[in-house]
Amino acid sequence: MAEISLDKIVNLCKRRGFIFPGSEIYGGLANSWDYGPLGVELKNNIKKLWWKMFVQERMDVVGLDSAILMNSKVWEASGHIETFNDPLVECKKCHKRFRVDGEMTSEHLPNEIFEHIETEHKKEVERGTTPFDFAKINLADKKQFNLMLKTNLGPAADEGSQVYLRPETAQGMFVDFKQVLETTRQRVPFGIAQIGKSFRNEITPGNFIFRTREFEIMEIEYFIHPDKWQEHFEHWLNEQKRWIKAVGIDEARVKYVEIAKEDLAHYSKRTVDTEFVYPFGQKELYGIAYRTDFDLKNHEKHSGQELKYRDPITNEEYIPHVIEPTWGADRTVLAVLLSAYTESEARSGKSEAVHETEITLRLPKELAPIKIAILPLSKKEELTKPAEEIFKRLCKHWMCMYDETASIGKRYRRQDEIGTPYCITVDFDTLEDKSVTIRDRDTMAQERVKIDELVEAMKLKLNF
Ligand code: GAP
Repeated sequence: MAEISLDKIVNLCKRRGFIFPGSEIYGGLANSWDYGPLGVELKNNIKKLWWKMFVQERMDVVGLDSAILMNSKVWEASGHIETFNDPLVECKKCHKRFRVDGEMTSEHLPNEIFEHIETEHKKEVERGTTPFDFAKINLADKKQFNLMLKTNLGPAADEGSQVYLRPETAQGMFVDFKQVLETTRQRVPFGIAQIGKSFRNEITPGNFIFRTREFEIMEIEYFIHPDKWQEHFEHWLNEQKRWIKAVGIDEARVKYVEIAKEDLAHYSKRTVDTEFVYPFGQKELYGIAYRTDFDLKNHEKHSGQELKYRDPITNEEYIPHVIEPTWGADRTVLAVLLSAYTESEARSGKSEAVHETEITLRLPKELAPIKIAILPLSKKEELTKPAEEIFKRLCKHWMCMYDETASIGKRYRRQDEIGTPYCITVDFDTLEDKSVTIRDRDTMAQERVKIDELVEAMKLKLNF
C-alpha cells in the first residue's frame, strides 16, 4: 500500500472539520489543535470504546475523573518536580531548542540538530574529521528542562499560589486509591481507569497532533500483589493488542519495543512501548510500565496517610504494586486515521469523477463520526419530507447526517471521505414502495429496505 503523507491527513482533517489549527483567527497558537464537529465524534467514539472494553466489560476495573489541578505535594511525592525533565540543547546562534533523547558527541549528532545546522548555519560550521567541528557548532551544553506547566490560583501570583497542570492522569488514581478501595469493595488485583487532559511543556512539539503541550491520556493503574507482576504485565500487553485490532490500527505498522534500563522513566522497572510507523518515523503510540510500589510508597511517606492493603483472605498486609497500561487519545486518533485512509481511482464511476482520486476512510463502524447519511435523490419536497422524517427516526439511535446538496455521486464521495458506513437514499420509488436504498461504504452494495423495518435493519448492520 502506498505511504500516506502526514499532509494528506492534515488536509483532510482541516477540509472536512475533523481537526483545525487552534486560535486560527489570531494567527494560531503553535501546535495547538481544535477537534471540529467530526473530530470530536471520532475522539469521543474512541474514548467510549476504550471505556466499554476496559471499564464496563470488566469486573475488576472502576472509573475515576480526578481534578487536573492537584496539591503541589502530589508532584513532589511522585518525583515529577525533581525528575520529569527532558534533556535540552540550545543553539547559541538562533536560540532554537532541541530535545536530545540519545547520546550527543561530535561523532553522533542527533538528526534534528544535524539538519538544523545543515540548513541554517552551514556556513558558520567548519568540517573536520568528524561530521562537524564540534567546538564550532555553537551549541550550549546539554541542560535538564522540567516539563511541568505552572499556573497560579487566586489573585496573588506568588510562589504560595503556584500549582501545576497535571502531566499525567496517573497520580489522581494513586492519591484516591484508598477512597476507591473503601467505596467499591474491590480486592487486589483491581484497576482504576481514567481519561483526561494532561499538560507538558514539550521542547519540540510537532507532527500535527503527535506531540502537543495539551493532550489526552486514557490509562489504568492496575494494583497487584508484587509476586504477580509478570503475569499482569503480559495480560495488559495482550489487552493493548486486542485494542489495536478493535480500532483498526494497521498491525503491520505496530512494533513492541522493550525500553532499555537507562531510558526508563524515573518510576518504572520495566516498560514496553507500543510503537507505530508514522509518516515521520517509528515512534511511541502507547506504553506499559511496571511502576512497582513507587507511587503509593512515596504518597504514604509524603502525606503521612497509610496506603497499605490487607488481603481479606490471607491477612497479608502490603503496599500493592502497579502495572500501568497507558494510551494517548490523540495519538490513537492519528494512528486510526493513518490506518483507515485509502485512495482509489473513481470507485463510484460517476461521470465527473472518472479521473479523480477518491478518498475512503475505512474506519471501524463503531468509530465512524457519522453512522448513517440520509440523502434524498432530489431537492423536491416530496422527497425531502420523507427523508427528514427518516433522519428524525434514526438520529434517536445513531449520529446521522442529512444532505440534499449536489449530485448523488458527489454526496456518496463526501460520506466515503469521512468514513460514514451507510448512506440511505430516498428516491421517487420510495413514494410508491415505502422503501429506501442502503448503500454500504466498503462494498458499495445497495439493498432495498422498507422504511418501517429500517431501524431494525440498521441495528443488525451496525451491531449496536
Ligand atoms: N502515566 C504514564 C504516562 O503518562 P507517557 O508515556 O509519558 O506515560 C502516556 O504518556 C501516553 O500519552 C503516551 O503513550 C502517548 O500516547 C501520549 N503522549 C505523551 N506525551 C504526549 C504529547 N506531548 N502529545 C500527545 N500525546 C502524548
